Amino acid sequence: GRRVTVRDLAAAKERREKWPMLTAYDAMTARVFDEAGVPVLLVGDSAAMVVYGYDSTVPVTVDDLLPLTAGVVRGSSRALVVADLPFGSYQASPAQALESAARFLKEAGAHAVKLEGGRRVLPQVEALVSAGVPVMGHLGLTPQSVNVFGGYRVQGRGESGEELMKDAKDLERAGAFALVLECVPAELAERVTTSLSIPTIGIGAGPATDAQVLVWQDLMGLTPRPARFVKRYGDLAADLDRAARAFAADVVSGAFPAQEHTYR
Ligand code: KIV
Ligand code: NA
Repeated sequence: GRRVTVRDLAAAKERREKWPMLTAYDAMTARVFDEAGVPVLLVGDSAAMVVYGYDSTVPVTVDDLLPLTAGVVRGSSRALVVADLPFGSYQASPAQALESAARFLKEAGAHAVKLEGGRRVLPQVEALVSAGVPVMGHLGLTPQSVNVFGGYRVQGRGESGEELMKDAKDLERAGAFALVLECVPAELAERVTTSLSIPTIGIGAGPATDAQVLVWQDLMGLTPRPARFVKRYGDLAADLDRAARAFAADVVSGAFPAQEHTYR
């Protein structure tokens, strides 16, 4: 079978079909999510936190994310793979954005890129789209701007909701193929979703968006204190803890390796 394309996602919106997106940062999880039928995998700059251990997404670089992206592309065969452009790799100019995006497409095999922001990145979105790079937008809580927001909190309440709506329409007009809405009131996300012809992807944006995305470690119970918008579908932290303790105990006691694990 072939890869999912941005045209498939546009068609899904016309049919009012909802779809899931998950983050992925390595080949093995990408393969599992791909075989489970998840049509879009995002190599998020959330890797800064869940892979590299930073306390925000700000420090991660293109060089940090390229090998993770390449692994996700190699591990998957059906999903559209979207690479997050990290902080500082696109804001300076459309030329800088194109240089960074081209590395993700050429060196890692990504199929699209995502960048954060509204009116201030429209020239970047236009330059990428006209160069042939599909662009996913990201509005609301844009974690690369945490130092301006002064923390992680709901965005787009009150009058700033109209600003967000305008940014959303501008991103669509600039050629974005989809739009992530993070931590915004459900009513606003619904209005944006019905006002745009491109799909919206919610995270903490209520039930009306065309798609939903979660960071897989949040979904699987690896994150100690997940946000309100996370639903847990697994308890991997407990599973890994149990397995590590059992392995350690078996090694100490000599119960592992047994006959069946041993070459004669
Ligand atoms: O980096 C990331 O994981 C993201 C998603 C949460 C949308 O940007
Ligand atoms: Na991100």
